[in-house]
Amino acid sequence: MTDTAAGQIDHVFHERRLFPPPAEFTAKAVIRSQEQYDDLYQRARDDRDGFWKQEAEQHLHWFEPFGEVCKWNAPHAEWFVGGKTNASYNCIDRNIDQGRGDRAAIIWEGEPGDTRTLTYNELKSEVCKCAAALRELGIQTGDVVSIYMPMTPELAIAMLACARIGAIHSVIFAGFSAESIADRNNDAQAKMVITSDGLHRRGKVLPLKVTVDEALEKSPSVQTCLVLRRIGNDDVPMKDGRDVWWHDVVDKQSDDLPAEPLDSETPLFILYTSGSTGKPKGILHSTAGYNLWAKRTFQWVFDHRDDDVYWCTADCGWITGHTYIVYGPLAAGATCLMFEGAPNYPAEDRFWELVEKYKVTILYTAPTAIRAFIKWGDQHVDKHDLSSLRLLGSVGEGINPEAWMWYHKKIGGSSCPIVDTWWQTETGGIMMSPLPGITATKPGSCTQPLPGVVPSIVDETGASVDAEHGGMLCIDQPWPGMLRGVWGDEERFVETYWATVKGKYLTGDNARCDKDGYYWIMGRIDDVINVSGHRLSTIEVESALVSHELVCEAAVVGRPDDLKGQAIAAFVTVTDPNPGEELRQELRMHVRKQIGALAQPDDIRFAAAVPKTRSGKIMRRLLRDIAAGREAAGDTSTLEDYSVLATLREEE
Ligand code: WT7
Repeated sequence: MTDTAAGQIDHVFHERRLFPPPAEFTAKAVIRSQEQYDDLYQRARDDRDGFWKQEAEQHLHWFEPFGEVCKWNAPHAEWFVGGKTNASYNCIDRNIDQGRGDRAAIIWEGEPGDTRTLTYNELKSEVCKCAAALRELGIQTGDVVSIYMPMTPELAIAMLACARIGAIHSVIFAGFSAESIADRNNDAQAKMVITSDGLHRRGKVLPLKVTVDEALEKSPSVQTCLVLRRIGNDDVPMKDGRDVWWHDVVDKQSDDLPAEPLDSETPLFILYTSGSTGKPKGILHSTAGYNLWAKRTFQWVFDHRDDDVYWCTADCGWITGHTYIVYGPLAAGATCLMFEGAPNYPAEDRFWELVEKYKVTILYTAPTAIRAFIKWGDQHVDKHDLSSLRLLGSVGEGINPEAWMWYHKKIGGSSCPIVDTWWQTETGGIMMSPLPGITATKPGSCTQPLPGVVPSIVDETGASVDAEHGGMLCIDQPWPGMLRGVWGDEERFVETYWATVKGKYLTGDNARCDKDGYYWIMGRIDDVINVSGHRLSTIEVESALVSHELVCEAAVVGRPDDLKGQAIAAFVTVTDPNPGEELRQELRMHVRKQIGALAQPDDIRFAAAVPKTRSGKIMRRLLRDIAAGREAAGDTSTLEDYSVLATLREEE
């Protein structure tokens, strides 16, 4: 480890391996030469308005043309001022206009194995019917509709139906509690909730409507609840004058409802994401800029071609599902696989069975899933023919080099490029990623910014720092997909993202940029541990732990220490059923060898699982509290499994 002055982040990412794209991939790629990328990047940076004017004219449908390209009054941006467009039109009608009506838009498989395919023509009929039903039920442009549904085609249909009439959707992941639903309904003043009679989950049925009923007791703004029959559970209580069945109001509608021409900046959706203080914030995205960003980043990063079958394994309850199941791929006319179930039901090979069955060519998933597959064993993968795959993607957190190599070899057969995509709910779409036809990848690095993304690395005062040593990652220029605000909380919007460095968007992540211009995300700013004045990133200590053959997962946090400022606490799950002091010592030495003495964890706790949010992020705030011996504070609505926390406490 390099010894640097206090206050700098020691760069201890030792990854040296370089994986250039296979020549066959490059030959057919959308972006196939460095010059082509350099040209795009430079034009977007040096002539922002000219670049995006051309992109928007070429890649979106306009009912009325826009005037000014970007009105930037930091921190407020308006893109494609005065233009009229519609995200549902861009995702559906435009494909039909261009002759793709009979192409499969969504190939869906339910958890029990039921399937359904919707062509772009069929998707249009369903979306029109749903949009007409929303209108009949009193939903108008600007109204907020909460959507709390299983991963069925109707979830995407409901989102697009809102977009078609200018209603604002707020998708709430169908694992949240009644309390969380009510909070979100109230914050957004939602007028309607769309849900279903139930949800299949690992062979069981979860009563979604019952949860919604509980939430609606505390959601006075909600006037209507639209209920899809998914399970066939007819004894669902339906409240007169409030609850209506989907099949009663949607099915009878006309299948042709013209998309409403909407102003470019019409709010498209709110998506709640947890903040550091615990109270979820409603991230707001608007129509034209977001839709364009979703589409172009999808085309650039996933190198989309007409014959691709693309599968993003996320849930539509997260931004990944919004942008890379619905708005990006559909705007690009792609064929998307949509899956309702879990990766390990009925068995640990379900994903690979799906890849084989549908001949998936592009797979986009998360490191947390990849680590689970590694733990479950290669035999589940070996059963299936994965040769249809040509490109792999990763999102949600840094991918440990160990997991990267397994993904590359075992799933990609050593011949698929991996795109490690860095972005956030707030950014709307991918900001940094390899371009699969040209970027030589380094395991663990999200490599380089996309056209239109101008990053910088600064210190707490906002001054530029030596990028190689790392610091806080900012974005210096507005981009079309950027958030437009925090719903109902201008102060929080300004405070959280724009107050530290004037005019620059503060991502909240730490990053460093190496000599080749490759970015390495080092975790959230809060995740940096300061040990005796040396700054370590949690992910590097976690990666070192995970590289030990007995470790499945690791979560590392800092805890107060009188002597060193902060000490390192690690929570690890291991394959050894009876881990003890010997293994603890071995792991300490392992990290010491991998990174250096400074990074050696002070506490190592063995756990059955590490607590995670439902989107798979480690709940560091809670672990920090546990490590420090404090009661866990703040919002735990996104915690996946409370019992995990209880076990960790008992271990103390
Ligand atoms: C945070 C955003 C991006 C959609 C899903 C999560 C972390 C995300 C990466 C990556 C390292 C990553 C960052 C970011 N993150 N992707 N490829 N490498 N870190 O969206 O819930 O808004 O979380 O996830 O810390 O700020 P989100």
